[in-house]
Amino acid sequence: MDEIGVKGAREVIDQKCPIGVFDSGVGGISTLRTLAKMLPLEDFIFYGDSANAPYGEKTSEQVYELTQHAVEQLRARNVKAIVIACNTATSAAKPELMKRYPDIPFLGIEPALKLAVDSGKKNILVLATPLTLSLDKFRRQVARFSDQATIHPLPCPGLAALIERGPAGLPSIEHYLDELFKPLHDTEKPLDGVVLGCTHYPFIADVIEKHLGSHAEMFTGFEGLGRYLTKQLVDRGLLRTQTFGGPLAPTQQVEFLSSNNTAEELSLYRSLFERGFSAS
Ligand code: DGL
Repeated sequence: MDEIGVKGAREVIDQKCPIGVFDSGVGGISTLRTLAKMLPLEDFIFYGDSANAPYGEKTSEQVYELTQHAVEQLRARNVKAIVIACNTATSAAKPELMKRYPDIPFLGIEPALKLAVDSGKKNILVLATPLTLSLDKFRRQVARFSDQATIHPLPCPGLAALIERGPAGLPSIEHYLDELFKPLHDTEKPLDGVVLGCTHYPFIADVIEKHLGSHAEMFTGFEGLGRYLTKQLVDRGLLRTQTFGGPLAPTQQVEFLSSNNTAEELSLYRSLFERGFSAS
């Protein structure tokens, strides 16, 4: 990957431009899988900052610094919108990024608590990074819904770092979840909803379910995000209504970039995109 670090003028942005998606690392690929399915005519460029993951145990200031670099890599590749496929970076840095780069539409993601409450769930576990759960954005969400449901925020320090290893990290993930969920087994009311409030976690949703010992429904905000992205592109006249490569061209291009610029890392990204954790 060529590193590009300057904030210069942008070329003309039109429907043909790709959509940028970034995360601290592999997590955003779970979001990207949904977006790429929902928007099959669009091309995507994914940037994972795996060299600096995890973000969830850093300060908001550190996360903002790192996200600027990620945005500049995507911006220099002429993306028409940027999806911050990271709950932590959205909470810690989205307003500042919008101010710094007013020429790009930004979309973010937050723990799908509203979706869980709107689906009638009453006893909801929210799994997310320590930083996401400590910030005002999440506190405001809890205040908004706490009269409708009992909400149990559970920070998962270190879990995103294990998921960064891909399927090779599974034995350590199993052990981690066993320890993490032990105190929950004594709770009286059974959980009926689990919010996966970090984009790394959907890759291990089945492992989480197994260790929780519960069939509580799991929630992510990916489909809502896909609908909102579609609307933002329509409103700006930027949604593709045709492919641009000619009849024989593959319909959708998805390019992967990583701050850990190694062949192994990029092949892990591609494999997680195509097969998820089932590659093990
Ligand atoms: N995937 C990210 C999120 O949604 C952050 C994980 C991390 O880097 O700690 O919060």
